[in-house]
Amino acid sequence: MNALGLETVNISEDRTKLVILDQTLLPNEIKYLELDDRESIYEAIKKLRVRGAPAIGVAAAYGIYVLMRKFSGDDKSAFVEYFRREKDYLISSRPTAVNLSWALRRMERVLEDNLSVMNLPGLVERLGIEADAIRNEDIALSRSIGEHGFSLLHHGDGILTHCNAGTLATAKYGTALAPVYIALEHGWNDLHIFCDETRPLLQGARLSAFEMQTAGVDTTLICDNMASITMKRGKINIVFVGADRVAANGDFANKIGTSGVAILAKYYDIPFYCLAPSSTIDMSIRSGDEIPIEERAAEEVTEMWYSRRMAPEGVKVSNPAFDVTDHSLVTGIITEKGIAYPPFDKAFERMGLSSDIL
Ligand code: MRU
Repeated sequence: MNALGLETVNISEDRTKLVILDQTLLPNEIKYLELDDRESIYEAIKKLRVRGAPAIGVAAAYGIYVLMRKFSGDDKSAFVEYFRREKDYLISSRPTAVNLSWALRRMERVLEDNLSVMNLPGLVERLGIEADAIRNEDIALSRSIGEHGFSLLHHGDGILTHCNAGTLATAKYGTALAPVYIALEHGWNDLHIFCDETRPLLQGARLSAFEMQTAGVDTTLICDNMASITMKRGKINIVFVGADRVAANGDFANKIGTSGVAILAKYYDIPFYCLAPSSTIDMSIRSGDEIPIEERAAEEVTEMWYSRRMAPEGVKVSNPAFDVTDHSLVTGIITEKGIAYPPFDKAFERMGLSSDIL
């Protein structure tokens, strides 16, 4: 079994249901869920059954498509109103990853552009075509990110990654782990991947370590607080992480703990790269200060995964799901369009990125 062969997010064969691999059960159980109602789609995104910024975007696009298929009646303005209500509802499930609103805004544009020239069944079909395009493009973009990232690797490198920005976080290949898949295609069998376990939801242990091990890569799992000694021991040559939202100045939000890894990498003089599709770059915000940070339930810290509670009853808990890494700590940002180096705002402009779509 190779996790690269698992489909993270897709549409059912009869096109009536969003199909997701339930990532909360990994690595112990491989189970697919078929969803076609607003509450279960919202819940799947909120509870991280489908997670990772690009995968959330694809899930939202297919999610709204299956919801719009169920619209009955022939009133176009009621159709648009229904679309906007469902769009806002799905966006509210997770605030940090910009791909969620990006994908739904893209679907909305398609609806607006075709409203006067298509009937309702035609519009629904057109939305389905757009969702397919978002998924297919995500596969192509991830591959291309992988190729750019691969150009930075050397035989025998040790790569540190945080959280999961692999195939499970996208339609295929991933972002931060895509260069490793490309390296494998080139017959490289001498890379070493170090996965931060990523407290509190353990995406590094449950997902990245699972992905890399099943792909046949030499994989070592470390607790988050072991990154420093692992770097000091000379095991890490490069850091690859994903992003949930990148600001115009290169600050970026990613899973909680990423900014600490970036600070360590700077201290140990290890190159630190963020890998993300251009849809994750939000040119409408100037810096990371404007990125909303999702706060999650205290139980994820005090109880989840433990056989019994591991904190005193009533203790205050802070559980921000993401942090913002300052652009000054980032060596480069790898997108499907190439590698951006500081100053990032100028590099993004040269790549033709704008705030147009959001
Ligand atoms: O809370 P999660 O698991 O959705 O967080 C995921 C991350 O932080 C990823 O690194 C990010 O979404 C990039 S995925 C290519």
